[in-house]
Amino acid sequence: MIELAPSLLAADGMRLGEEIQGMLDNGIRLLHYDVMDAHFVPNLSFGPSLCKAIHHQFPAVRLDVHLMMDNPGAFIQAFADAGAESITIHREIAEDVGPILQQMKDQGTRCGLSVKPGTGADTLFPYLDQLDSILIMTVEPGFGGQKFMPEQMEKIRMLRKEGFQGIISIDGGVNLQNAPLLAQAGATRLVMGTAYFRAADPAAVARAVEELV
Ligand code: DX5
Ligand code: ZN
Repeated sequence: MIELAPSLLAADGMRLGEEIQGMLDNGIRLLHYDVMDAHFVPNLSFGPSLCKAIHHQFPAVRLDVHLMMDNPGAFIQAFADAGAESITIHREIAEDVGPILQQMKDQGTRCGLSVKPGTGADTLFPYLDQLDSILIMTVEPGFGGQKFMPEQMEKIRMLRKEGFQGIISIDGGVNLQNAPLLAQAGATRLVMGTAYFRAADPAAVARAVEELV
């Protein structure tokens, strides 16, 4: 099954509640929540307080938190307390990310690891047993609305070949054109910012993703 995770970054900031309600009305429960620290990536976005407010207002929403931060260890507890179902950190931030993955497990959140386009899938191999999900970036992280990098799809095949059976999530420039190829390659979760929230008919996008096998 392919899960769609709309990315809050592309939602209308003045109408966040309506945007999230619209998503629920379209049968989507998963919300991708991008956290940027202006250091690991050249942009700022949301912190734990908005995450908590969304969780409080919309308890049915499953929050998929993507920490694009140099120091995510300092925020695991805050996001766990704010209702995150899963937290993803970046492979690039430390030589050994094992202790931070353990922190997530201790807090009871699902555990994810992400790679930027320039980081090899093989750098994830030592952690595969500990991970619920892997997030492959198909743009340089930091901004929505960028162009999908198709060569990154090879990482999906490599991870499946290595025996990873957890969630493989794709983030960056995902749309209805590349979605079938991603599903075919073994991805199971598609993050869509622009392609969902800026679509003329987001409900139709949700239906099209539901029909992918
Ligand atoms: C980029 C973020 C993405 C972003 C995707 O750094 O991690 O989640 O919202 O946006 P689109 O789908 O517009 O590329
Ligand atoms: Zn993201």
